[in-house]
Amino acid sequence: MVKIAIAGGTGQVSREIIDALVASGKHEITIFSRAVRAPRLLGLPSGTKWLTVDYRDKNGLVQGLQGIHTVLSFVQLLSDPNQESQRNLVDAAIQAGVKRFAPSEYGRSKGTTDMGWWDGKQKIREYLEEVNRKEKVLEYTLFQPGLFLDYLAFPHKTAKHVEPLQIGFNFERHRAMLVEGHEDAVMTLTTVADLAAIVARAVEYEGTWPATGGIRGNRLTFSQIIEIGERVRGHTFDLGKVKLADLEAGELKSSWDLEAVHKAVSQDQAAAFQKTVSIGFLLSSVKGAWDSSDEMNHMFPDYEFTSAEEFLMKAWEVKP
Ligand SMILES: NC(=O)c1ccc[n+]([C@@H]2O[C@H](COP(=O)([O-])OP(=O)(O)OC[C@H]3O[C@@H](n4cnc5c(N)ncnc54)[C@H](OP(=O)(O)O)[C@@H]3O)[C@@H](O)[C@H]2O)c1
Repeated sequence: MVKIAIAGGTGQVSREIIDALVASGKHEITIFSRAVRAPRLLGLPSGTKWLTVDYRDKNGLVQGLQGIHTVLSFVQLLSDPNQESQRNLVDAAIQAGVKRFAPSEYGRSKGTTDMGWWDGKQKIREYLEEVNRKEKVLEYTLFQPGLFLDYLAFPHKTAKHVEPLQIGFNFERHRAMLVEGHEDAVMTLTTVADLAAIVARAVEYEGTWPATGGIRGNRLTFSQIIEIGERVRGHTFDLGKVKLADLEAGELKSSWDLEAVHKAVSQDQAAAFQKTVSIGFLLSSVKGAWDSSDEMNHMFPDYEFTSAEEFLMKAWEVKP
């Protein structure tokens, strides 16, 4: 049994992980939230505890973390540009004697150049390195599964809590965006369910967590993803090819544009944010940012990851 605190436990990704942890029936889970009580609509599994926290109050956090072995953070990055919440959580975890910490990662980027919306991840990576520089005071891992494969089923929902999001590949309309001359850029694609299963295994893992926890569900080039798309949809894809130089100049000259944005962004910011995300996604993929490592695959060699083609065949089976 592991005593786990889930910071930001009311979010879409965290709830997938909570479900997997609860399903194991082994752990004591406390959800940290800024809200006074769990909104009924969230439908949090029974047996999970609720703790209202103020991330600015370090002493309160230390108190809440007494006896906790592992902290998994899913704190939203965009709403906290200086990452005060996660920094205070790290400090409090060290003070309370927490053994393991996982910051709000669950994506991929070697650095976060070109992906300003994920700058917060880099800040916390650096902070975790800094606090451990003299001596190791907090074991941690960065869970990095790449992009959620579920997003290639957009606009259809394939996970219980994670909402559909369109990023660069639109299977519904048979189209994809890619950088001219970089069709072999690599994407790591892992289902939300596989991420949750691996995090649940990692929580029980008796060895030391690696600082980078790469999770490689599928490692595919843009060309391979498009080939899968054409087989799955039985239709050739319209390729919105963009030039690297245009992207570097902040221009997105594609024959089509993305439509959906994350719920953390207000509508009036949506168009600008969408353009930034599209450019950053394409630029960073060319630079290898989405080519996740595979530390967790080696830690759990018996785990069978969901193949992209099988998952997408099923997701699109009876869809128009
Ligand atoms: N790889 C991928 O494709 C992918 C896709 C989506 C997300 N992700 C990653 O997964 C992680 C979680 O994302 P998400 O979309 O699930 O997050 P989310 O639902 O937007 O937010 C998670 C929780 O963060 C808490 N929160 C918000 N602002 C906060 C603040 N200033 N201080 C402290 N807590 C705050 C909220 O909980 P309370 O209000 O209850 O406190 C919220 O429910 C992120 O690191 C994200 O980058 C990866």
